[in-house]
Amino acid sequence: MTEEFKFQLTQNLPQEFSIKASAPSNIALVKYWGKEDIQIPKNTSLSFTLSNCKTTTLLKLELKNKASDETQIQVFLDEEKTPSFIPKIQKFFHLIDPYCPYLKHYHASIHTSNTFPHSSGIASSASGMGALALCLVQIEKQLQPNLSLDDLRKKASFLARLGSGSAARSIDGGLVLWGKHQKIKESSDLFAIPFNDGVHPVFTDFQDTVLLIDRGQKQVSSSLGHSLMNGHPFAEARFAQAQDNITELQTYLASGNVKEFMRLVESEALTLHAMMMCSRPYFILMASQTLEVIHKIWNFRDETKIPVCFTLDAGANVHLLYPRKYKAEVQNWIDKNLKQHCQDKAYIHDEVGKGGEFLEIS
Ligand code: DP6
Repeated sequence: MTEEFKFQLTQNLPQEFSIKASAPSNIALVKYWGKEDIQIPKNTSLSFTLSNCKTTTLLKLELKNKASDETQIQVFLDEEKTPSFIPKIQKFFHLIDPYCPYLKHYHASIHTSNTFPHSSGIASSASGMGALALCLVQIEKQLQPNLSLDDLRKKASFLARLGSGSAARSIDGGLVLWGKHQKIKESSDLFAIPFNDGVHPVFTDFQDTVLLIDRGQKQVSSSLGHSLMNGHPFAEARFAQAQDNITELQTYLASGNVKEFMRLVESEALTLHAMMMCSRPYFILMASQTLEVIHKIWNFRDETKIPVCFTLDAGANVHLLYPRKYKAEVQNWIDKNLKQHCQDKAYIHDEVGKGGEFLEIS
């Protein structure tokens, strides 16, 4: 139990709450792969917060007649009842009870929608848990008005982490770091922190075009994926490497060394997949089109000297990362040369964004 985020319920509870928030997805540069307990990461990770790919959630709570009643949870995705989400939310509410003890006094209905299509191969757990956590901390703000915005964001990251590890990084904007790092004093395994101080301007407007090579469901669930690192022959070396990569990346971020940044980011993506290729059981999550695209990226970069690199999550889709000033050239190239490798020629354009938002209810 983490004392810092516990909440003492002393006040009378209002009859109802209606709260809205949104949170974006994020793309890891240094990957989180391996965890213990409830999303305690085995290494530090660092991500760009995105902007366009986001979840918006309206949380409605209604006071129960009797505290003993079982909390009823209803979930609506794009205004359609989606009972398949309920067990995950129920488990999450149970887990966060010491930190949000008011929740058990209410029935909840959650109305959620994503800007990206369900069949895009883009996971909604980071943005979804991020948006829900931002709703929850707004309730806390109403019950305890003296809480600062910083306190609220930190707690939102903490709660989001308990839902899904990478969701901890979907609250703040720009570059976000999660997981204790021996050289970064404020870092924590429990919540993510913004990591934008001293970052060279070239990294503040990065674009992320997600090439949808495979729009299907994830082949390996994240819980299975992380568990593959337990007893993995290279686990300890990988966790140590990630810590070193954070330190190294920090120097490139500060000096604006885009070339070395790209080398390290690509190496992180390939290492993530390499870990999966030699775990037991083993998986190949890249598709043949993923490899075709990677080779085209390397050729294009060589020929044009335009700084564009790739990263991957635990799937076949390719995230193309590049500074905004090359947007027109890169998009032109995607349309002419890369789109054909995507399922239904689909890709999603995104860029570094400002993080989650509390929203007014109209
Ligand atoms: C490959 O955050 O989805 O995207 O904590 O089990 O919910 P859980 O896992 P999740 O794992 C993300 C893994 C990754 C790398 C990353 O985002 O850092």
